[in-house]
Amino acid sequence: MSQPSAVRIVEVGPRDGLQNEKTMIPAAAKIELIDRLSATGLRSIEATSFVSPKWVPQLADAAEVYAGITRRPGIAYPALVPNLQGYERARAVGVEEVAVFTAASEAFNRKNINASIDESIERFLPVLERAAADGVRVRGYVSTVLGCPYQGEVPLADVVRVARRLHAAGCYEVSLGDTIGIGTPGKARAMLRAVAAEVPMAALAIHFHDTRGQALANILACLEVGVAVVDSAVSGTGGCPYAPGASGNVASEDVVFMLEGLGIPTGVDLPALVDTGRWLSALLGRIPGSKVTLASP
Ligand code: HMG
Ligand code: MG
Repeated sequence: MSQPSAVRIVEVGPRDGLQNEKTMIPAAAKIELIDRLSATGLRSIEATSFVSPKWVPQLADAAEVYAGITRRPGIAYPALVPNLQGYERARAVGVEEVAVFTAASEAFNRKNINASIDESIERFLPVLERAAADGVRVRGYVSTVLGCPYQGEVPLADVVRVARRLHAAGCYEVSLGDTIGIGTPGKARAMLRAVAAEVPMAALAIHFHDTRGQALANILACLEVGVAVVDSAVSGTGGCPYAPGASGNVASEDVVFMLEGLGIPTGVDLPALVDTGRWLSALLGRIPGSKVTLASP
C-alpha cells in the first residue's frame, strides 16, 4: 500500500454544507464563512451553486455571495452549475471555475435534476464548450457511486461509464460521490480502482458523506490506492436535499487531522479551520460536526 505525497482538499462546506440547511443563512454570513476559509490555507473552496432557486432556495443568493467574497490569489472558488443558464449566472459575477454534476443512478438523477443521465450530460455539454472557449475550468461530479437512495445498488460499470464520459467531455477532475454515505472501505477502494482503470487517478477526487461513520475509513482506503484530492466540509455540514437520509460530508478538520497524522501535507492550518468550524456551528446553533474540534481545547 502506498499513499500520495500531498493531498488537495476541496472544501465544499459553503455549497454542499449550506444547500441542505433548514434555516436560511444570510448572504453576509456565507461571505464571512468563505472569507474565513480563505485564510486557512485551503486552495479550493466551492463557494455556492447556481442551480434553480426553486429547487434549492438555500442558495438563491449565489450571485450576491459570490460577488461579496474576497477572492485570494492561488485559491480556486468553483461554483456548481446544472445548465447553461447557471453557467451564465455564474460568469456574470466572475466565476472562473464551475462544477457540473450527474449521477451513476438514473433514479437519483430524475429526483435531483429532473433528467436522465444522458439528458443531464447533454445539458452540460454546451457548458463545457462555452467553458473551454472562456478558459473556465470544469470539475465534474458523479453522485451515488456506492449506492442510491431510490434504486439501491449501483453497478460499478455505470459509475465507470459516467466518470469516463465526464472526463472525456473535458472535466479536468471527476469527483466520485458517495452521496448517502453507504460505502465501506473495501467497496470504496474497488470502485476507485475500477474508475482509475479508465480515468487517470490524477484526474479523480473522492467525496464521502459520513452518514454511517465510514467516511474517514473510506478515504484512507482510497488514499492507499493513490487518490490525492479529497472533498470535505468544515464542521461536517452537508447533504443533498434530494437524497433522503444523507447526512453531512466528512468534516474537513477530521480529514486534515488524519492526513497530518499520516505525514501527508495539506497546507491547511488546522487550528484556523477548527476556529472556523466552531464559528459556523455556533451560527447554525448546533454542536460542531468535527470530532477533532470537539476534542480541541
Ligand atoms: P427543471 O425544473 O427540470 O428545469 O429543473 P427547467 O429547465 O424546466 O427550468 C424550470 C425553471 O427553473 C425555469 O424557471 C428556469 O428558468 C429555472 P420558470 O420558467 O419556471 O420561472 N432555471 C434556473 N434558474 C436559475 N438558475 C438555473 C436554472 N435552471 C433552470 N441554473 C434543474 C432542472 C437542473 C434546473 C433543477 O432540477 C435544479 O436546479 N436542480 C438542482 C438540484 C441540486 O442542486 N441538488 C444538489 C446538488 S447535487 C449534490 O449535492 C451531490 C454532490 O454533492 C455530490 C454527492 O454528494 O454525490 C455534488
Ligand atoms: Mg455531496
